[in-house]
Amino acid sequence: MAADEPLVLGIETSCDETGVGIVRGTTLLADAVASSVDTHARFGGVVPEIASRAHLEAMVPTIERALKEAGVSARDLDGIAVTSGPGLAGALLVGVSAAKAYAYALGKPLYGVNHLASHICVDQLEHGPLPEPTMALLVSGGHSSLLLAPDITSDVRPLGATIDDAAGEAFDKIARVLNLGFPGGPVIDRLAKEGDPASIAFPRGLTGPRDAPYDFSFSGLKTSVARWIEAKRAAGEEVPVRDVAASFQEAVVDVLTRKAVRACKDEGVDHLMIGGGVAANSRLRALAQERCERAGIRLRVPRPGLCTDNGAMVAALGAEMVARNRRPSDLELSADSSLPVTEPHVPGADHGHGHSHDHDHVHEISKDNLYS
Ligand code: KG4
Ligand code: ZN
Repeated sequence: MAADEPLVLGIETSCDETGVGIVRGTTLLADAVASSVDTHARFGGVVPEIASRAHLEAMVPTIERALKEAGVSARDLDGIAVTSGPGLAGALLVGVSAAKAYAYALGKPLYGVNHLASHICVDQLEHGPLPEPTMALLVSGGHSSLLLAPDITSDVRPLGATIDDAAGEAFDKIARVLNLGFPGGPVIDRLAKEGDPASIAFPRGLTGPRDAPYDFSFSGLKTSVARWIEAKRAAGEEVPVRDVAASFQEAVVDVLTRKAVRACKDEGVDHLMIGGGVAANSRLRALAQERCERAGIRLRVPRPGLCTDNGAMVAALGAEMVARNRRPSDLELSADSSLPVTEPHVPGADHGHGHSHDHDHVHEISKDNLYS
């Protein structure tokens, strides 16, 4: 760790985790997370108002905890990075406001960064600098995309994405149908280990010869699993929860890994990065490893704790912004609930406003459907 590498604090509040991370270059110094997930669990999904209030309460203590853990003073920071989107508008606003206040009070540059690019950049903390271009499979509660990033700070290109549900959303919805609670991913992952993934042949969406090679669809799978469960219940039979979990999970990770490996081959990229909450899934990690090995592709997946939302990932991308002399954001930085994946960061006004879509904070929020 070189002392001249940028020391950056990152704040993440796009959903239900208040995350504050501190990194020096690509070295992780602190990763403090306060989660309100237990408060949401009884509602079966993230309740935006509750998340915002929890962020507000956790913000300052979590920043202080991170500084203490890293053993650095706020005065030594070279920059403050914050997730400015996409995510829940009210939740994002708490992090953005905090970051602006700290940046202003300490006289430090502010970097509003993209949550999705952060999920990719975090792997630098574990496996060193990302190759360029990076091929990334991004799978979270709100997004499922295949991205080709020649430069994670400035150039992220979507090759394909889900046309309906995100992978994590599918896990959460199937868990709800099985009465397994929220969030669904971890519990399905656990139960699937004791089930037979080949016991039920659930459909693999968008894998026909005429289908878009890099797009995903999980809503047909979700309906198919729900119908299968309903039929069992209607017949008065017991639902084999472990087999359903294993077979459903297999259908999701089969398609994700197949398409990701294909994208690497087509684009001539010899490695694959997997990021986002669903990248914590043990079967996705194992199958990706198996298929990548067979195809001569190097797999990079951060440890599970860095896959789900955290502040370290934001700090990692912020440090990269500083290292590459990217223009800081100005204090007018606002939360943008639908910040496109193509904008890794939101530079200050002098560079123009990167994108032209409206900044209306009340339009559709990707994660709101968790609560529907
Ligand atoms: O990246 P993330 O923490 O938040 C978003 O940006 O959305 O992802 C959350 C999603 C949830 O849908 C959760 O069920 C899923 O990631 N998830 C998992 C696992 N751990 C979290 N899905 C499958 N297997 C897991 N082990
Ligand atoms: Zn996320």
